[in-house]
Amino acid sequence: MEQGYTLITGATSGIGLALAEKLARQQVKLILVARRFDALHAFQQKYPQCEIFQADLSQPNNPVQIYEFVKARGLVVERLINNAGVGLFGDFSETDLDKELDMIQLNISSLVTLTKLFLPDMQARNCGEIINVSSVASFMPGPKMSVYYATKAFVTSFTEALVYELRHTNIQVRLLAPGPTATQFEKASQLEDSKLFHRFKNQSADEVAQALLSSHKKIVIPGVLNKIAVFLARHLPQSWVATVVAKIQENK
Ligand SMILES: NC(=O)c1ccc[n+]([C@@H]2O[C@H](COP(=O)([O-])OP(=O)(O)OC[C@H]3O[C@@H](n4cnc5c(N)ncnc54)[C@H](OP(=O)(O)O)[C@@H]3O)[C@@H](O)[C@H]2O)c1
Repeated sequence: MEQGYTLITGATSGIGLALAEKLARQQVKLILVARRFDALHAFQQKYPQCEIFQADLSQPNNPVQIYEFVKARGLVVERLINNAGVGLFGDFSETDLDKELDMIQLNISSLVTLTKLFLPDMQARNCGEIINVSSVASFMPGPKMSVYYATKAFVTSFTEALVYELRHTNIQVRLLAPGPTATQFEKASQLEDSKLFHRFKNQSADEVAQALLSSHKKIVIPGVLNKIAVFLARHLPQSWVATVVAKIQENK
């Protein structure tokens, strides 16, 4: 049978780009989605086996357009990696609501819509994989990034529920929950004024991508410190966890 495609959202930088590079080098056929056409095009020049689709996933109609593009080309998506995402640093009373609503559309609604669109085709073939990129942040309240942490809590909860619902099928549902990773996320999320990325040794996007691709676990948390953080966040009172997160993310 001909090999299907892996669709990756947010494939122009960071973790998505690292995943795309590693898979492309293994001759995996890719469909890459992001807003920056130049970066998508440059990748396609390097790896002609890949398809590209420029889309802003903070716009509600764009997941459907991606699905229609895939169908019109007669492509089969056997693995969906919902990776695109952004945060926003600041106290909720001071942050921009439009940016937060766009974030919710990107981090939650587009992820849900793409999953809704591609899952039935996987069910019809009884074969496929869905990987949602969440965060260590999904396991804790996040003062100074409250909406971002809450979007990732949604992604983790949604994904763990799908893991259960699809447990008797041949469709693998998995969660990648990285901790602080050296990508364009810090700048895109206006975190330059926060101490967050200066507190710890950040992992590289390459390390995070490798952790996912070399594991068959349902929940992949790259790095020992991140695993400890998730363990503590799941067992300590949430008010304590909020206090620690606020301290870690405080302004420089
Ligand atoms: N870096 C971290 O510390 C960290 C930690 C935990 C979890 N994560 C999660 O990891 C995922 C990847 O982030 P990253 O760290 O690799 O950040 P990144 O380097 O900023 O990459 C984000 C990717 O998403 C794309 N993107 C952003 N907004 C988009 C939009 N509106 N529509 C379509 N694509 C969009 C960007 O491409 P364009 O700009 O070309 O659209 C880029 O390819 C995110 O879900 C993030 O929440 C990151």
